[in-house]
Amino acid sequence: MPATLRFIWIAPRRFGDPVLEIGTGTGRISVPLAIAGNEVVGLDISPAMLERAAAKLADGPEVGARLQLVEGDMTNFDLNRQFPLIVNTARSFQHLLTPSQQREALQCAHRHLKPGGHLVLDLFDPYFELLFANASTPAAPREVLDVSSGRKNTPNVGIQAQ
Ligand SMILES: C[S@@+](CC[C@H](N)C(=O)[O-])C[C@H]1O[C@@H](n2cnc3c(N)ncnc32)[C@H](O)[C@@H]1O
Repeated sequence: MPATLRFIWIAPRRFGDPVLEIGTGTGRISVPLAIAGNEVVGLDISPAMLERAAAKLADGPEVGARLQLVEGDMTNFDLNRQFPLIVNTARSFQHLLTPSQQREALQCAHRHLKPGGHLVLDLFDPYFELLFANASTPAAPREVLDVSSGRKNTPNVGIQAQ
């Protein structure tokens, strides 16, 4: 299991539930969290993604009772309740492309956090070098931390020939 998933898995034990997952998608995280006994609210802007998450609940009414799926925009939603733990996994936050959208989403999450609650943001730290496919020089080596082993590596980043 990837380190992020392991962390999200144990986070409710440490921080409590209900858990709000923002950008819940097809329920990859929220469904197993509910199966594990947590009360979860999964919010997503895409009805199609939510439909796929709901389909995973078809055979388990008791799990369905613990997972509420809500259509909403992470920059502007009001669930009229607060959570001890909010998670935003698999770079969902990085769907927001402007600083003002990002600020709105953080303010919205903050309004939904109980005092002393925790927001877990799982972000992708991109190799900008790889985003520029036309670059002619290889990227400089960069040290990265492997969070699962605690070891530091310096992977080689190549540029694909055109
Ligand atoms: C990469 S998926 C992650 C899904 C899930 N968290 C996971 O780990 O499998 C990103 C999700 O963010 C949702 N999303 C994108 N923009 C959003 C927004 N403004 N408000 C709510 N959800 C959004 C997408 O619909 C998509 O389901």
